Amino acid sequence: MGVKTFYLAGETAKHGLDLDISQVTEFSALQDAIATNFSIVVPGEVGFQDKTRSLESLEDIRSTDEPIGVNISGQPVRETPGPEGLPYLGSYLQIFPDHLGNNQRLFERYGPVFKSTSMGVTNYQTNDPKIAQIVLSESEYFSKEINKMHPLYPIKNDMAGVFLGDSTSPNWKVVHKYMPPALGPKAVRHYSKTMNDELRVSLPVFDELESADSAWNVYQYMLKLSSATVGKIVLGIDFEHFTSVDAPLHKMPLAIAHSLALNKKITSMGEWYSHLPFGDPKRLRDLQAFMTGEINKVIQESKGNGTEDLPLQDAALKAANLVDYFTRAVDNSGNRLPTENMSAALTVAAGAGFTTTSSLLSWLIFGLVTYPGMQERLVQELVNHDFKDDADVTPELIEELNELDKYVKEMQRKHNPSYQPGRTAQKDLILPGGLRMRKGEIIIAALHHIHNNPKVWENPDRFDPDRWDTEAVKKRGRTDYIPFAAGQRMCIGFNFALQEIKIFIAQLVWRYEWIKDGNVETEYDPFFQLIRPVNLYVRTKRRTVYPSRSI
Ligand code: HEM
Repeated sequence: MGVKTFYLAGETAKHGLDLDISQVTEFSALQDAIATNFSIVVPGEVGFQDKTRSLESLEDIRSTDEPIGVNISGQPVRETPGPEGLPYLGSYLQIFPDHLGNNQRLFERYGPVFKSTSMGVTNYQTNDPKIAQIVLSESEYFSKEINKMHPLYPIKNDMAGVFLGDSTSPNWKVVHKYMPPALGPKAVRHYSKTMNDELRVSLPVFDELESADSAWNVYQYMLKLSSATVGKIVLGIDFEHFTSVDAPLHKMPLAIAHSLALNKKITSMGEWYSHLPFGDPKRLRDLQAFMTGEINKVIQESKGNGTEDLPLQDAALKAANLVDYFTRAVDNSGNRLPTENMSAALTVAAGAGFTTTSSLLSWLIFGLVTYPGMQERLVQELVNHDFKDDADVTPELIEELNELDKYVKEMQRKHNPSYQPGRTAQKDLILPGGLRMRKGEIIIAALHHIHNNPKVWENPDRFDPDRWDTEAVKKRGRTDYIPFAAGQRMCIGFNFALQEIKIFIAQLVWRYEWIKDGNVETEYDPFFQLIRPVNLYVRTKRRTVYPSRSI
């Protein structure tokens, strides 16, 4: 008899599946067939058992007359564990305000995947890189689909295509064709001069703060610096953030930063809250409308400049900024990015471009004032490369700054500022370890927790830039370190981000010695979409003495 009944171990055999296995010649082929039928995401983890024993081979399976239980790496299929939570509030009080620390504790308690409900919104999270890899790969099982449970739902904007749109939307395809060339490695190199110039514009303000021996809030100034750079390179606008020490933040970055803060607040309050016609949800809608209006004006002005159309790759290398690029770049058929996508896509590029880098720059300064000897290492490396005051940090120099590279990597591991990428189950499915997820549920690849998972990283709490020289780290798994996420929906601005922050940190550490002000522990803002330090204050001292070359 070639027909066998298979059922999921953990359920009753009544829901079994009859399968004729007479033609099956390989154990792995049977695993594949069972995985497909039961939506088990990793076929290689499928195992078999009857009432008394594990069935290790096709012969074992053929020899039994009982229904055959299907397990996942020896485990029965079961509900994903997680805290029970209170009625209505769910686990809100257990998770906020220290969501990083509390989620870490939940991983320690429940294992590599847990689910929690907060104010009516249920999300799964994983700190296992292998599961993150599955989740972040667009597939029949998972996709970026921003439904009501998704953390980006209140700011969803399908027309933006990237970041705020679903992967299945035609808008993602079209924007994803036009935007990446403008942020590719070559295109970004041609913005390195602007990045150095923008930093230089800020120096009189940092010098003034230094002369007055003032302590200043790092995030506020890094927000000004990174948004001024994005203002120039994405929108072609001078935000005038460094005309004086207390120059105000331009209304556009202010609106974007405010929208992200409102989004985090609204999502943490539950889906119902986002529909209120007043209060925060209304403020968020007003801000979005304001941004669209402002960016449309910029596009109209750029269109009036009468410059030539260019193929995508040429336009990326010649454009003065991204607005200029979008208004000139044409594909092989001579089509440009549809106007209806342009303003939303530019708003996303501007927002994604500075909210992230301002947080990362702030953490990098936190590292300079926290980890002994780090500043000296970075300065020594610059000395060894004959760096001088007023020199540009060029893309060629960046490639040689190995200490800086290791520093940035280690900081992005330990203090990753980034969004938590959420993906949506496309069907009822079974995760590694036998954990169930249902269609429409959201799982977040918890980047911070992957990067600080002791099963993946040796001594994860230790700040150690030299770990990046070790074989273990060089041969790490593909998704053990993913500050920019992974898969088709990963960050397309990472070349831009890394070049910018390396230029800024190299210039700033060359010019100043950095000293933390006060002994207060640095805290992050729990109600912002990104992890940013809120209370980090520093003072600086102009460097006048440099070490001699060490090599
Ligand atoms: C430290 C800096 C940055 C970090 C840590 C970061 C991180 C990320 C992450 C994790 C995602 C995936 C989000 C998701 O899956 O839901 C993402 C997407 C994205 N990032 Fe970044 N990012 C950074 C800088 C930038 C910059 C400078 C730009 C543009 C100038 C940019 C543009 C984008 C865009 C357009 C997407 C969406 C791609 C898509 O939907 O296909 N990012 N980023």
